[in-house]
Amino acid sequence: MFGVFNKKTATLVGVDIGSSSVKLVVLSREKRTIFLDSYAVVGLPASAIVDGHVQELGVVAEAIEKGVKICGSKLDSAITGVPSSAVIIKHLDISNAFSEAELEDQIKIEADQFIPYPLDEVAIDFEVQGPHSTNPELNRILLVACRNNDVIQREASVNSAGLNCRVVDVDTFAIERLLSYLNRESVESDELVASVDIGASTMTINVMHQGAIIYNREQGFGSNELTNSIHIQCGMSVEEVEQSFRLNEISIEIEAMLIEPFRDTVVQQISRALQFYYSSNVQNQLSKIYLSGGCSSIKGLVELLEEELGITVVLTNPFSTMQVQAKINKERLNKDAPVLAKACGLALRFFD
Ligand SMILES: Nc1ncnc2c1ncn2[C@@H]1O[C@H](COP(=O)(O)OP(=O)(O)OP(=O)(O)O)[C@@H](O)[C@H]1O
Ligand SMILES: [Mg+2]
Repeated sequence: MFGVFNKKTATLVGVDIGSSSVKLVVLSREKRTIFLDSYAVVGLPASAIVDGHVQELGVVAEAIEKGVKICGSKLDSAITGVPSSAVIIKHLDISNAFSEAELEDQIKIEADQFIPYPLDEVAIDFEVQGPHSTNPELNRILLVACRNNDVIQREASVNSAGLNCRVVDVDTFAIERLLSYLNRESVESDELVASVDIGASTMTINVMHQGAIIYNREQGFGSNELTNSIHIQCGMSVEEVEQSFRLNEISIEIEAMLIEPFRDTVVQQISRALQFYYSSNVQNQLSKIYLSGGCSSIKGLVELLEEELGITVVLTNPFSTMQVQAKINKERLNKDAPVLAKACGLALRFFD
């Protein structure tokens, strides 16, 4: 069991292990106010995470440890997540007559039928969500299954950095939590809100309705395409390109020659992915899109998307209603905020 549904612990730092960097977000709470205590973004070499799997545990652990140092305070309990592509999420309806131990056995029997790996290679967790809506003799069970290795490697990366990994969550749940938090006034309404995250290698779309993710899709597309073409066509090393993104020092020529066409590709990719969503759902029109991940900082992307899609598009700022500790540089945070969405959604689990 990998602990997706473990109970809350006293303190938490959210650790998002992305393919280009790890992000740490440290939250605390006093009464009803949530504080952003500190955060860190630490780059990873391309060889560390490949296709969503941790390849170089030591390198990832070192980056997280560096992040802990940047955060500057003593940190202990942490939560990280596995990507939704590594996970099978399923609802089961099982008789409520089973004892707790019997239920676990029954779930394993059912899981064996749809999990395409031997069960001893799979971490399984489940939560009894309550009676079935039309048949009270059945319980609705939410089951989450993931290859052992993906859970173990991520947990070990966090623990090797000197933190105490309390929970290995699923990225989708972190986004669900963040969207619910950002939309807490209208979570009961019929609105459909989406999160579109475009990082270095992956684009992830989630659509939420009344506090629950009802659609998830991940595809291989991200800023690596852009970084590589700048590298090839402008003779800059990939590290130099990344550095100029960080310092906002991209030349006007590169902007016009490569970034603007890439921005059009991003709009096309999002638009196509949303067509998939609309064609697979009888649901209504989306009312809002929260954009996150490194690509969201491409100049003019939000405006272009709004124009193309006719939907309100906002840059995700997970901290807009939080108290930000005085030591944090606000200007820097504004720039970094959309990249911290997942790490923040993970850390918010403490305040569920
Ligand atoms: N202004 C910008 N324009 C284009 N790309 C940018 C800009 N700023 C940052 N990026 C890209 O965003 C990437 C980082 O995004 P992010 O941190 O969301 O990726 P990740 O989480 O590591 O990757 P993934 O989620 O795909 O595994 C960087 O590698 C960089 O190339
Ligand atoms: Mg990411």
